[in-house]
Amino acid sequence: MYTPFKHEPFTDFSVKENKKAFEDALKKVKGELNKDYTLLVNGQHIKTDNKITSVNPAKKDEVVGTVSKADQEIAEQAMQAASDAFEDWRKWSAESRAGILFRAAAKIRRRKHEFSAYLAYEVGKPWKEADADTAEAIDFLEYYARQMIELDKGKHVESREGEMNRYIYQPSGVAVVIPPWNLAFAIMAGTTVAPLVTGSTVVMKPASNSPVIAAKFVEVLEESGLPKGVLNFVPGSGGEVGDYLVDHPKTSLISFTGSRDVGTRIIEKAAKVQPGQNHLKQVIAEMGGKDTVVVDKSADIDTAVDAIVVSAFGFSGQKCSSGSRAVVHEDVYDEVLDRVAKETKELSVGNATEDNVYMGPVVDQAAFDKIMGYMEVGKEEGRLVVGGNGDDSKGYFIEPTVFADLDPKSRMQQEEIFGPVVCFTKVKDFDEAIEVANNTEYGLTGAVISEDRQNLERAARDFHVGNLYFNRNCTGAIVGYQPFGGFKMSGTDSKAGGPDYLQLHMQAKTISEML
Ligand code: NAD
Ligand code: ALA
Repeated sequence: MYTPFKHEPFTDFSVKENKKAFEDALKKVKGELNKDYTLLVNGQHIKTDNKITSVNPAKKDEVVGTVSKADQEIAEQAMQAASDAFEDWRKWSAESRAGILFRAAAKIRRRKHEFSAYLAYEVGKPWKEADADTAEAIDFLEYYARQMIELDKGKHVESREGEMNRYIYQPSGVAVVIPPWNLAFAIMAGTTVAPLVTGSTVVMKPASNSPVIAAKFVEVLEESGLPKGVLNFVPGSGGEVGDYLVDHPKTSLISFTGSRDVGTRIIEKAAKVQPGQNHLKQVIAEMGGKDTVVVDKSADIDTAVDAIVVSAFGFSGQKCSSGSRAVVHEDVYDEVLDRVAKETKELSVGNATEDNVYMGPVVDQAAFDKIMGYMEVGKEEGRLVVGGNGDDSKGYFIEPTVFADLDPKSRMQQEEIFGPVVCFTKVKDFDEAIEVANNTEYGLTGAVISEDRQNLERAARDFHVGNLYFNRNCTGAIVGYQPFGGFKMSGTDSKAGGPDYLQLHMQAKTISEML
């Protein structure tokens, strides 16, 4: 019925036709800017007076779109609709639910550059990053659809003589989905369709920086045949609508991706049993990172330099997986630092909707101010080698920045900056490198650049992160190939895009019958 999963290929923009196709998509999307988008509750498109205005972070005066904003009354209607729709949706066959995901994937693939162009406008993604984000969204649809069809068969359990045992998975109920803005398409789409395909219904509250791409995705799911009430789309404030949905007694499952502070608060709130609630809430919470690239003395220097630059500056360092720390053996420290500094100076920074640049802006004024604040901390705690400047006159642009000689316990080496900043720390041997790599509260991704097999094996055992990479950068996990999720304060290690992900959205049921 379906082919084996294969990840969506990335676009090679050095090919003339591909470049032209992307430029055409940017033009098309430019012509569609400033449209008004509705909420979706119980199949009804609702317009409210209160709006979220989404702007291009590279051009503050360019409105990407306005999106109706839900309040608690609308959030309540969405919860009721999701709860009612669950009764029918849970009875759909796995194949029929998966069919909606396959159809949605096909529709997005046909309009791939258009979605990526929206990402370039809405969150300032350079073409390559936008293309990867859209590819990952397609991958999640294709992967979870296949996984659900398999999971629907249940798992084998033993039976004794005279007894027949079955072990099956059932959907959870109403899922509240709260995604971040940074992988604005992939994570929003993946975390939405995972509960949907298992038979749960969804109330999705997108991030306020990226509601337009979310609205476009909701349109695709509707066109693909999703019945009314199964997905409800309620953009709104985290504090008002997010809290309300998390607390709601009908919420069965919360799938959150975002910062550590909001995530831990959600976990705490979800643990409180509300009046009328007769179940425990399941929580998936994938949170922040402070990710390290370790460079051993045996490292291939070209590989190390490339790994640090790509990990630090891809999408302006605004990935949970971004390598914001370089922990380098003293024998190669100066050489690696010099080479990283040289490459950093050559990176192009600008507006991705006008040029195919390496790095775009950061997402908004709050992010700009926070990152620029860290520039001052970095100058106090370490040595500024490259960058350090920002310009928010037209958009939120910050130079790719390298700081050297940081104490491993400094704020710069402990706190998630979420911007284009990498900090170097020198270590005397590999033991110290692993100790420093592990000394933050996070445990999301990491990379080790080494030609020493013993040290790589040591890292495999002792470098405590959910996604560990050898001799490459620490970003860009691929669905189905590198299941993604973090240890420690980085989250519940749900491993999105992995073989165990959908089970986390379901309840296993044992049925035992005497023969
Ligand atoms: P954020 O925590 O500010 O927001 C995430 C989502 O939570 C948004 O939709 C927001 O509106 C919502 N929210 C805010 N307050 C809320 C509340 N009180 N109740 C319910 N919902 C609320 O994070 P962000 O700025 O959107 O994203 C950046 C963060 O996400 C970084 O820390 C990054 O590391 C992390 N992240 C983690 C992963 C991962 O897989 N581990 C992936 C991407 C991003
Ligand atoms: N899954 C994304 C990455 O690996 C965050 O970069």
